[in-house]
Amino acid sequence: MIAQNSQKCFQLAKNHKTVKIPHPKIYILKLFIGKKMKRYTGLIENYRSRLPVSETTRIISLGEGNTPLIELHNIPRMIGKDIKIYVKFEGLNPTGSFKDRGMTLAVTKAVEAGSQAIICASTGNTSAAAAAYAVRAGIQAFVLIPEGKIALGKLAQTLMYGAKIIQINGNFDRGMALVKEVADLAPVTIVNSINPFRIEGQKTAAFEIVDELGFAPDFHCLPVGNAGNITAYWKGYDEYATDRVCGNRPAMCGYQAAGAAPFVEGAMIDNPETIATAIRIGHPQSWDLAWNAQKQSGGWFDKCSDEKILAAQKMLSQFEGVFCEPASAASLAGALNDIHTGKIPDGSTIVCTLTGNGIKDPEIAMMQCADSKPVTIEASLDAVKKAILDNF
Ligand code: F0G
Repeated sequence: MIAQNSQKCFQLAKNHKTVKIPHPKIYILKLFIGKKMKRYTGLIENYRSRLPVSETTRIISLGEGNTPLIELHNIPRMIGKDIKIYVKFEGLNPTGSFKDRGMTLAVTKAVEAGSQAIICASTGNTSAAAAAYAVRAGIQAFVLIPEGKIALGKLAQTLMYGAKIIQINGNFDRGMALVKEVADLAPVTIVNSINPFRIEGQKTAAFEIVDELGFAPDFHCLPVGNAGNITAYWKGYDEYATDRVCGNRPAMCGYQAAGAAPFVEGAMIDNPETIATAIRIGHPQSWDLAWNAQKQSGGWFDKCSDEKILAAQKMLSQFEGVFCEPASAASLAGALNDIHTGKIPDGSTIVCTLTGNGIKDPEIAMMQCADSKPVTIEASLDAVKKAILDNF
């Protein structure tokens, strides 16, 4: 029998004992659908059988993954094309970017191997994720970042998580080279995407998309910097298709900022420049793997100007209510261009990965909205009424 006690908690009489239970409706629902009501505890638990962990592995997680796949409604209508566009909003991971998917596994495996410290070079998001997961695990994080070239929110996060931040007067590529050299001399585990566990963790985003849609999209569009993510998505889709979880694989479309587009130029670039600082990279580490993803999938690389990237970021915010960081919007900017030229034909289903949250880069957001500053009025009912009626 279910009863309510004096503290308004529900109790169930079971084997001559009373046990506390949730509200009876939830309790009964749980009895019926059992496993489905399980608390979500992160992507390693969710895809355990497809990831390199054992029963005894201590999982370092912040509940990452399980991000929304949002169907765009207004933008497809505005461009007048019969194309289904979904965005996988990775900005809703615990530290605000897709890096958390790779970091949960990279840090889990580093701790399992007995490592006391991790290190990465970063344009901002990897450093934030590394710092958070290191704190969670109780180990030290060292991060190398290009001075003055990372978004304010990313710096603030990384400081708050308590990582040792080392700024260099060089770009990401220089930082990456230094990290690889120092890891041979100091007891630190590299957690950039050259660490294979990062790719393993990040491939789960492809699993989630197929699990939700029931098939893989025709085209998967994403921004490319160091090229770990395009590699990881392809690995995920390929694994699911090989195991017949889905019957198709998408064409992988990688978009780079025009001033930082080594895959489009076909050669490494020494001085990459773009307003999208997250992908300001000229020497991608996953060079061969990303070419492989593009070729095997029948996809392509292309570049977008900074103007187009910023326009796509603003469109997503102002027409769909989705606020991503500039680099993330390269996926939609590139896709819209290819839809316009017909390279992505009518009738297609596409997914664009929005890699990071717009809140990470408040300076760019304020710049984008320079013309729409908040109005300041007198604190009276009349003035508020006038401000509303004037703006209808
Ligand atoms: N989008 C965002 C928001 C990123 O932070 C990155 C990479 C990418 C796209 C590109 O992904 O490197 O796998 O091709 N950021 C790294 C960092 C380099 O240090 O945070 P990729």
